[in-house]
Amino acid sequence: MSLNLNTLEAVAQAMTQPGKGILAADESTGTIGKRFDQINTECTFEIRNAYRDLLFNTDGMENYISGVIMYDETLHQSSLSESVPYPEFLAEKGVIPGIKVDMGVQNLPGSESEKITHGLDGLDDRLKEYRKLGARFAKWRAVINITDNNPSGYCIGTNAHTLARYASLCQSNDIVPIVEPEILMDGTHDIDDSFVVTEEVLHTVFFELYSQGVEYEQMVLKPNMVLSGYNASDRAGVDEVADATLQCFFRTVPAAVPGIAFLSGGQSDEDATAHLNQMNRVLGENKPWNLSFSYGRALQQPALKAWQGQIENVSAAQEAFLKRAKLNSLASKGEYSKDME
Ligand code: 13P
Repeated sequence: MSLNLNTLEAVAQAMTQPGKGILAADESTGTIGKRFDQINTECTFEIRNAYRDLLFNTDGMENYISGVIMYDETLHQSSLSESVPYPEFLAEKGVIPGIKVDMGVQNLPGSESEKITHGLDGLDDRLKEYRKLGARFAKWRAVINITDNNPSGYCIGTNAHTLARYASLCQSNDIVPIVEPEILMDGTHDIDDSFVVTEEVLHTVFFELYSQGVEYEQMVLKPNMVLSGYNASDRAGVDEVADATLQCFFRTVPAAVPGIAFLSGGQSDEDATAHLNQMNRVLGENKPWNLSFSYGRALQQPALKAWQGQIENVSAAQEAFLKRAKLNSLASKGEYSKDME
């Protein structure tokens, strides 16, 4: 299947086209190792390749998945059956290849417990190389924590500035940036705290993107939903989450941005699907941006569980992955219901 990907605008639109979302399969070696630990599976180069092959090779995933974010190692690996490099393998299926380019978080100097994302050094050269290898979009994740004292304006500002530096470098290298400012939902804060912090972060991020000349039409935003902290005493329900998230985005995300692809951030897969669905239901046809998904855990957990690292479970794992992808595709059109689970 061939897609029109001639301009960055076209790539950004294709990434968030109605009925499709992005598979975040860009776990670092350490993170995928933790996921494999949960199913007692060794984390070797070959097994990581076999697992990614299972996902990318799922028949029909291209009907629901517009793009895949890969980790550097995976971008250099190849399909098991015919040894086709993954960027080419995915592109042949009509799925857009993408690459995580940040180098993870480190402590933010001068702050007690906050983080800053690394990876700007040498990024221009790395982007040139990734573009040659077939990557059409990239991802950079900033991490913000809510506690009694945080986040500080300093943490929000430095992370927003860095995200915009990354996004501007991507666009100058013909790569669509996924801009991901993730506010973690760990903690006891309520949904109002989450709203206030998400609003401030998004305002700051868009101010920095504007200041550094990033074209809104050529990017995809990957935000958190506005949720209660996971340990909050009285957690907001689906309708409240959908309404708060939409209100927050109406205030902060320019309509020139073609699409918003949510991260799942540790929600259960059913919650992540239900929240996305409700937002699309409320929005209806009259929407400033396409609202879709770029889930990691919420797309992969059922597949990992079914797989258990065993070759004889590959088909069951692919079935579980396809089901989640399909339900999220329906949610991106507001057509999901719980009884489909
Ligand atoms: P989760 O959906 O598991 O939060 O992962 C998405 C992601 O890409 C985090 O950077």
